[in-house]
Amino acid sequence: MTAQIIDGKQVAADMRAELKAEVAELKKKGIVPGLGVILVGEDPASQSYVTAKERACEEIGLYSDDNRLPADTPQKDLMALVEKMNNDPKINGILVQLPLPKGLSEAEVLLAIDPAKDVDGFHPMNVGKMVVGEKAFLPCTPHGVIQLLVRSGVKLEGAEVVIVGRSNIVGKPLANLLIQKNATGNATVTVCHTQTKDLADHTRRADIVIAAAGRPNTVTADMVNDGVVVIDVGVNRVEDATKKRGYRLAGDVDFEAVKEKASFITPVPGGVGPMTITMLLYNTVESARRAAGL
Ligand code: GUN
Repeated sequence: MTAQIIDGKQVAADMRAELKAEVAELKKKGIVPGLGVILVGEDPASQSYVTAKERACEEIGLYSDDNRLPADTPQKDLMALVEKMNNDPKINGILVQLPLPKGLSEAEVLLAIDPAKDVDGFHPMNVGKMVVGEKAFLPCTPHGVIQLLVRSGVKLEGAEVVIVGRSNIVGKPLANLLIQKNATGNATVTVCHTQTKDLADHTRRADIVIAAAGRPNTVTADMVNDGVVVIDVGVNRVEDATKKRGYRLAGDVDFEAVKEKASFITPVPGGVGPMTITMLLYNTVESARRAAGL
């Protein structure tokens, strides 16, 4: 079997076109959704993610307030900027790009963000609401993964899903969403991680494998069933002398080999990445609607 490639770029483009039209309608009512972006330090991957987020805002007509701070920014300055954004009516969503440089407390910053503007869905209040199945801003990457599965017609109800990776940003929230008793849940979920005894023993039993480990070749063809659905959340820079920039992007999955066994697979780049940004835009527009009482 050769897999159908799930085109995240296309799904994201379709959703962004819908959002752009919605933003144009809101503008007629005098509402311009705004995103406050904070990037601390010079991590190259974070810089390129943030640039992509800012461009996406522009593309669909959102206001964005971009703040790039030096790595030695004191915690109190960061907290003051978050507080300023909490009180700024032009800003409906606040995004603090993670990870923060050493010495800064992520937990303290995330807790300071107004939960009503927490479009990343990282505030403990929103995490808690998500876990108990209440309406909340859903974290962007897990939400994007679910959109890709649903829009590709993959059945989640009763599916055996194996998630590889237990991060707060992807693995843990995704597991929670997939076990919810609703139309985009009802799966049976196993979360594997660095202490899992025999990873392949789990992945071979899966209908859907979601790789979010942050390590290339974590999932290889011998580890999956024929017909498996594979979602690759990994974004790794792999040295490649044939590329001008000296590296190429690779996911966590051995794409070329696994696509010969899978029924559906996402590429890297062009799979989950564009969806993460799209769900951030989605949450920001939703936040503006709520702030306007719509
Ligand atoms: N770092 C990696 N992914 C994300 C994300 O979705 N949001 C933020 N704020 N930081 C990240």
